[in-house]
Amino acid sequence: MTWLITGGAGFIGAHVVRAMVEDGRGVVVLDDLSTGDPARLPDGVPLVEGSTLDRALLDRVLKEHQVSGVLHIAAKKQVGESVEQPLRYYRENVEGLRVVLEAAAEAGVRRFLLSSSAAVYGMPDVDIVTEATPCAPMSPYGETKLIGEWLVRGVGRAHGMGTVALRYFNVAGAATAELGDPGVFNLVPMVFERIDEGLPPLVFGDDYPTPDGTCIRDYIHVADVATAHVAAVRRLEADPDGTELVLNIGRGAGVSVREMLAVIGRVTGRDTAAEVVSRRPGDPARVVASADLITRELGWTAEFSLEDMVSSAWAGWQVRHR
Ligand SMILES: NC(=O)c1ccc[n+]([C@@H]2O[C@H](COP(=O)([O-])OP(=O)(O)OC[C@H]3O[C@@H](n4cnc5c(N)ncnc54)[C@H](O)[C@@H]3O)[C@@H](O)[C@H]2O)c1
Repeated sequence: MTWLITGGAGFIGAHVVRAMVEDGRGVVVLDDLSTGDPARLPDGVPLVEGSTLDRALLDRVLKEHQVSGVLHIAAKKQVGESVEQPLRYYRENVEGLRVVLEAAAEAGVRRFLLSSSAAVYGMPDVDIVTEATPCAPMSPYGETKLIGEWLVRGVGRAHGMGTVALRYFNVAGAATAELGDPGVFNLVPMVFERIDEGLPPLVFGDDYPTPDGTCIRDYIHVADVATAHVAAVRRLEADPDGTELVLNIGRGAGVSVREMLAVIGRVTGRDTAAEVVSRRPGDPARVVASADLITRELGWTAEFSLEDMVSSAWAGWQVRHR
């Protein structure tokens, strides 16, 4: 049984590839290398360089590798960029997914997993976000993820495919220093960039209705995200017919920006005294997952702590920037 992993050369995809290989599974990666790096892949994992929009290529890969399940991780993921380039985001994330689903359905693939995001919830008005919390995405990026979930569910029902959508919360850390996040779009690498330049980290607003006034998020180690995929794959292999799941992946623990800065200061030994600037539009005060459903359905729980995330991310940052 071979699993096709789209976006497998990216930050999260490479961790999923590694976890799948360690779990003894056959994988093939399709990646256009727009943000991915082939050096992230373990030796022996086949990489097909190309786009999810290329139907003929997908047909060939699915057939040649006798693919029986798909982990669709490839996507564009920058919220701000999606506001400026909605057509590109809809093409890559919705049309790209539609093409992969069509090829998979026609090839008789019966197991499909989608990388979704907490961005589907928008500004949730609850302390703990469950999968039943209403979805109200605030950006074209979040919309493409929610539409993707609907598309996957509809195709799963119509074509007898077991489906799982995993809504990742704030992903950080690295399993090894070489697999660190190359982007500077999330809080942890943004702080690293500032302290490395000798500048104070920026805090976007400290007048939110939270205990210390800064935004609260749920951070999850990328290695935990990867093991959640393996747990979902086991479920899809055991019960493709009966599986239609949408699951949060988080730790269920809220961490404020100031709390994260304190951890980063402790781990790196650097000064993380911050400069407070104005709020960014569209930043919710608090987004924290309930991870109860994924524990119940897949027996998965997060293992890694905030310190693990920050220290492994810092090791990755240093490999990349020294
Ligand atoms: N990083 C996060 O915090 C986070 C949070 C929630 C959801 N997600 C989702 O997780 C997934 C992976 O994110 P990441 O952080 O690893 O990003 P990434 O940019 O590192 O990885 C995306 C990968 O997909 C590839 N890719 C992009 N468009 C493609 C296309 N059309 N055809 C083939 N390959 C393509 C890229 O080259 C890259 O290797 C995305 O679907 C993203 O929306 C990420």
